[in-house]
Amino acid sequence: MTHTITLLPGDGIGPEVTAAVVQVLEAAGLKATWESFEAGAHAVAAHGTTLPEPLLASIRKTKCALKGPITTPIGEGFTSVNVGLRKALELYANLRPVWNLPNVKSRYEGVDLVIVRENTEDLYAGLEHTVIPGVVESLKIITDAASTRIARFAFEHARRQKRKRVTAVHKANIMKLSDGLFIECARRVARDFPEIQYDERIVDAACMQLVMFPEKFDVLLLPNLYGDIVSDLCAGLVGGLGVVPAANLGADGVGVFEAVHGSAPDIAGKNIANPLALLLSGVLMLRHLNEDQAADRVMRGVTTVLAGATRTRDIGGTASTSEFADAICRAMEADTQ
Ligand code: NAI
Repeated sequence: MTHTITLLPGDGIGPEVTAAVVQVLEAAGLKATWESFEAGAHAVAAHGTTLPEPLLASIRKTKCALKGPITTPIGEGFTSVNVGLRKALELYANLRPVWNLPNVKSRYEGVDLVIVRENTEDLYAGLEHTVIPGVVESLKIITDAASTRIARFAFEHARRQKRKRVTAVHKANIMKLSDGLFIECARRVARDFPEIQYDERIVDAACMQLVMFPEKFDVLLLPNLYGDIVSDLCAGLVGGLGVVPAANLGADGVGVFEAVHGSAPDIAGKNIANPLALLLSGVLMLRHLNEDQAADRVMRGVTTVLAGATRTRDIGGTASTSEFADAICRAMEADTQ
């Protein structure tokens, strides 16, 4: 079957890693028509907006997008395309599986956890204003509806993946109303899943425990801001931002698949970025499209290549982005399974 997939190459290292990933996915057997769009600062000249309507219309139609990273300049006047996309398409769940890849050096072994991050509210609501000069207010929005929806998503994911425990992460000892509501909703949903254990951690303690014994964690359920921070911490447990995938999932089966990392302006245009994080996001996309055979093929190719010496600099090698992708394609070609 030929799928129609929306493609956002992004900027910075985005176009390089996206090209590498499309090459590998197609070599693995994915048949796709790609509808490609610019977003972010690059889209402003042509469309007058960072998030052009034709792009949103394409994702609403295809229900599936592969997205490279997009730069968000710091300061006023430019809202994040990533946040905008999640809001416009109601991509309420951010799913980030984190596990040790074979032969990718890290300080830990046996890490196999999943981060489920609420994607639409919290301090990311973008409701900030200057109260008086020198005093700024930023609103943290937590609702029963969004907290219940993400908690249900986490437990349903745990059930589907036969995972044992969901841990809600919060700071309800200080933010008694907002984070208090978040865990109240999680507790309520937990009662519908008696076969899955449920517990809670205060976010600072969770961070300490994650760097002391990450192998003890299973599914982590977090509001937006803690989810963002803890995701990068967890990427660091297994080899860094170059190796961790993510999916943004919404109602009606819409999925936007992207890496956790950003546009890495420090290494953009040098053909040295690691395409693995976006490739693993591509594997999540293949599974979302029920292309499990192609997904398994990519994973076997990745495992074969990581067993050898071909790898990018961030994970201890010297290969370029394209050399790494070519090696995976060759490994898949030689794969007779
Ligand atoms: P970053 O993730 O782009 O880079 C952090 C560090 O990790 C840099 O040293 C970079 O070279 C390295 N790195 C990142 N991805 C890598 C890869 N695939 N291979 C090898 N090394 C890699 O984070 P930073 O610098 O904070 O953000 C840069 C821009 O990206 C910002 O404008 C930010 O807003 C945006 N961003 C976009 C995201 C998205 O589109 N989903 C997510 C995170 C940040």
